[in-house]
Amino acid sequence: MPADINKKAFDEKTLLKLDIFRECFREWFPVFLNNIFIERIYIMDMFAGSGTDPERNLGSPLILLDEVRGPESSFCSTAKERGRDIRFWFNEAEPSKAKELNMNVDSFIGRCEQNCNLHGCYFADKVKITSDKFGVIFNSEEFINIASNKKYGKFLVLDQYGFKQVGEDVFEKLIEFPAMDFIFFISSSTIRRFKEHESVKRHINSSRIEFDVDNPKLSHRQIADHYRSLVPQDKEYYIHHFSILKGPNRYGLIFGTGHTYGMEKFLNVCWRKDEYAGESDELINNDWGKNTLFAGVEPPQKKRIVKEDIQQQILRGRITDNKTGLKYALQRGCLGDVYVEAVKELLSNRKISIEGTFNRKRTSIHSIKDQDVYKIRVSK
Ligand SMILES: C[S@@+](CC[C@H](N)C(=O)[O-])C[C@H]1O[C@@H](n2cnc3c(N)ncnc32)[C@H](O)[C@@H]1O
Repeated sequence: MPADINKKAFDEKTLLKLDIFRECFREWFPVFLNNIFIERIYIMDMFAGSGTDPERNLGSPLILLDEVRGPESSFCSTAKERGRDIRFWFNEAEPSKAKELNMNVDSFIGRCEQNCNLHGCYFADKVKITSDKFGVIFNSEEFINIASNKKYGKFLVLDQYGFKQVGEDVFEKLIEFPAMDFIFFISSSTIRRFKEHESVKRHINSSRIEFDVDNPKLSHRQIADHYRSLVPQDKEYYIHHFSILKGPNRYGLIFGTGHTYGMEKFLNVCWRKDEYAGESDELINNDWGKNTLFAGVEPPQKKRIVKEDIQQQILRGRITDNKTGLKYALQRGCLGDVYVEAVKELLSNRKISIEGTFNRKRTSIHSIKDQDVYKIRVSK
């Protein structure tokens, strides 16, 4: 049995994980709040814990409630004015923890109402708390109906202990649900260490994962690559990861979305946390560290490698327009600036020419207008 995470003060690495959940949701929520095509929003935390640690640091469900308010409760006002249908579903299998979570949610909302001039909390009656095993919920009619409804925007947090709850079978279903972005936690070092163990193989086909024996830093990336490989070739889907070193072990987060904007948002969070590679809390590519003589002299290896890869894809005729190139950068864990740099360099070396008008549009890929899409011609 793992030690109860809510019984001891959250350590630095748990706080980092929670901070990534927070920032990820902070990026996600306003997009869905303002999307008129989304009839209902579900914010779901299926391994919710009890809500706080003994020092009253907020756990994931209370972080979600905290963030949904927006700056100076502006999101509460917007949601109320527009009558937005927003529902929370928090689940915690341990009944005593679920009970504690209930009390913590009530007192969180009570405290919030005291400092609010909106006359009653808009979200107070919108929080459902259950105490079931995740597997039971995931296969329930209720969950499947919510998850499969394309008019419902869904944000799903799966902060499991270990790795068993989000195995390949769960992942393969998650990526098929429309308008659902998810983020899950996974103990990568455990999978690496017990790769050949039946208890691992039952959930993840770990013998297919090529761990680099000399470089444990890459464990979480390799596990994320394995999940990425499960996405059907013809499906447009985006997966990114963030690795967290805790003691000698690596853990990490894996985020999935069917939408370029969702991935741009998550990559923003990751690159804010790791300016070298956008994927780890350690120098995963052994770039020069901050505060060294050479800091900032060389561009991060990750951006250089992805830029060169994009250039190769262009020269081989696999990327033939800017929209495809920008999406490719996202698939490689980089934002659109890397694609724009790659094209600028090829243009100045006269290796390509542009049919249409070159532009530096690099964000909101989904809304790039047809007139801003240009073709790339490789020079003879
Ligand atoms: C890592 S903790 C979650 C911590 C929480 N996110 C927070 O920020 O405080 C995992 C939680 O999942 C609960 N749990 C374990 N197995 C579960 C299952 N099969 N279904 C749902 N919850 C489960 C545990 O009791 C524990 O509280």
